[in-house]
Amino acid sequence: MSERAFEHIVVTGGAGFIGANFVRLLRRERPGVRVTNVDLLTYSGNLENLAGLEGDDGYRFVKGDVGDAALMDEVLRDADGVVHMAAESHVDRSIMDSRPFIVSNVLGTQTLLDAARRSPRKPRFLYVSTDEVYGSLPLDKPEELFTEETPLQPNSPYAASKAGGDVLVRAAHHTFGMDCVTTRCSNNFGAYQFPEKVIPLFVTNLIEGKKVPLYGDGKNVRDWLHVEDHCEAILTVLERGAAGEVYNVGGNNERTNLELTHSILAAMGKGEAMIEYVPDRLGHDRRYAIDARKIKRELGWEPTRSAWPGALESTVRWYVEHAEWWQRVRSGAYRAYYEKQYGER
Ligand code: NAD
Ligand code: DAU
Repeated sequence: MSERAFEHIVVTGGAGFIGANFVRLLRRERPGVRVTNVDLLTYSGNLENLAGLEGDDGYRFVKGDVGDAALMDEVLRDADGVVHMAAESHVDRSIMDSRPFIVSNVLGTQTLLDAARRSPRKPRFLYVSTDEVYGSLPLDKPEELFTEETPLQPNSPYAASKAGGDVLVRAAHHTFGMDCVTTRCSNNFGAYQFPEKVIPLFVTNLIEGKKVPLYGDGKNVRDWLHVEDHCEAILTVLERGAAGEVYNVGGNNERTNLELTHSILAAMGKGEAMIEYVPDRLGHDRRYAIDARKIKRELGWEPTRSAWPGALESTVRWYVEHAEWWQRVRSGAYRAYYEKQYGER
């Protein structure tokens, strides 16, 4: 598979958890590639995640909505790559109010695709999808895994909105011959994750002496992938993936939520008494499990940073050592950082 070289990559959602890790990876590993980060700075977008890049000539931040067609035309004008990960990302929020998910994840994705199609350089378009588009696997059939051929059966409004974006990307490739590639990955963990997601929520609760709210019976299974492994996989697919193809990305690291909780408690020297069993999430998917053999076979990528307990312990340590970061995030005070850097706009 030939490797593409890029001059200017637009990353959407680069102020979020995965986006910030990806922008940092690009600047570190591909310093000759210009990077434009377009982010609306919703509640989870935080420019502090990119602190240190302000004086970097190869990096530019644009505050904006992927649903703003005129702005996207402008931003994509001389881009030869687009990595689209801007999205509403939290399942529980989608259960409370699904509208922003449809607006950003479905309409926003189509708007960005249309801008990419109009762009003179015909950029390669990578869509960061999710394993949640496949729906849920049963607990009693551990041999079953999601492959790239598994039908899309999303179960939450979040997953349905991501599946909407996913099939729109497919349609853009099929109908217009656009150079699109898609990744579908499992649950990420690592630095800069918004403390609404289970790992940073549980760790920061424990630091504050609060209990951790475990949904239902705690037997739901997720496959945990370190965010730096995920970012490396995205770059691999961007540079070497075949147009029109989908690549699963997983951590080979399936755990029940109860196992996850016990591992966090152990890493923090806390006991079982800190678990509070709370009512289950509505429509809670039982098990996600990824078959990631295709990306290994075709592109030579496999995870190297996701193994537990080491990767989980270092993530727990990151939150312990960055209390100021998540305390500001929890209180909303991180917005002051943006205003200081960029003024009110
Ligand atoms: P996040 O919530 O931390 O970050 C999302 C970013 O997108 C934020 O910076 C936000 O401001 C920005 N954004 C939201 N709507 C926007 C819009 N309309 N225009 C421009 N920017 C907008 O999410 P994350 O966990 O970093 O997830 C990033 C992507 O990866 C999402 O597409 C998500 O579906 C996908 N994904 C996440 C995981 C995971 O475990 N976190 C796993 C698989 C796939
Ligand atoms: O699988 C990929 C997906 O992983 C991504 O597409 C999503 O953007 C990302 O948010 C994540 O979705 P999940 O719903 O799996 O992640 P979350 O951290 O919200 O929950 C992980 C598991 O932990 C899930 O089974 C629900 C459970 N949980 C979660 C929270 C927030 C709890 O038991 N208690 C909680 O308070």
